[in-house]
Amino acid sequence: MSTTPAQTLDTHELEQRVKHMYEEVARDPQGDFHFETGRALAERLGYSAADLDRIPAQAIDSFAGVGHFLDLAAIEPGDAVLDLGSGSGMDSFLAAVAAGPEGRVAGVDMTAEQLAKARRLGAEAGFHNVEFREGYIEDPPVDAETFDVATSNGVINLSPDKPAVFRAIARALRLGGRLALADIVTNEQLPEGVTCDASLWAACIGGALQRDGYRTAIEDAGLEILEWRENKEYRFVSERADNAVRKYGVTSISLLARRPERTA
Ligand SMILES: C[S@@+](CC[C@H](N)C(=O)[O-])C[C@H]1O[C@@H](n2cnc3c(N)ncnc32)[C@H](O)[C@@H]1O
Repeated sequence: MSTTPAQTLDTHELEQRVKHMYEEVARDPQGDFHFETGRALAERLGYSAADLDRIPAQAIDSFAGVGHFLDLAAIEPGDAVLDLGSGSGMDSFLAAVAAGPEGRVAGVDMTAEQLAKARRLGAEAGFHNVEFREGYIEDPPVDAETFDVATSNGVINLSPDKPAVFRAIARALRLGGRLALADIVTNEQLPEGVTCDASLWAACIGGALQRDGYRTAIEDAGLEILEWRENKEYRFVSERADNAVRKYGVTSISLLARRPERTA
């Protein structure tokens, strides 16, 4: 993980905490987290039951995303899709169904247990057009300008270097390529007591950017935002998380952005 901005956040500790938390999500998705997981959450966020029935159930059990965006992504047969922070693979498998046998999906994640689970589930279910690569979303192991669509669900808020993530996405997309994601943002800048708390950060709260800063990071990477919507159906579940949500307006959003056909 790249080192950066947050004043006194220990990024090494953060990486270990994030890995530990999402190892648990892979191993024991019914565990006690600050956030919900699983199929009921996915359906409430807008995923179609019929689509979910086409992918491995255990990937859905470990779903820890914060919104739905596949309607915005509008993945077509033959598309190449990059899923950043692919976790146990739910969005990657859904993308693989939409992209079909002529398309391909690359999921990238840094947590070994998530990767192992996603790879096992993909192999068992015969998903030949999906691969899961170990790497960081700030510098994913992919070639430049090779993807039609980039997706990410509940992940970018966890990165201590969000501008690097959006630059990496812009680099990976072909001209005209789309970015569709769900993530956590805030109405107000979070105070240091929250941003330097690695545990709240790992729970998808402490690292959330104020919404204008989030938009700017996307636009500074050369992407244009086409659509932005709030996911009112998403909620955190612990009391501590809920306090931060009410105080600072922590919200889930989904958005669609595009790498322009021609760069100025
Ligand atoms: C909240 S989970 C979401 C997983 C998946 N997108 C889903 O919807 O279930 C966040 C995932 O991002 C991964 N992750 C977090 N920060 C990362 C980084 N800097 N580089 C690569 N993966 C990261 C974690 O390992 C975890 O699997």
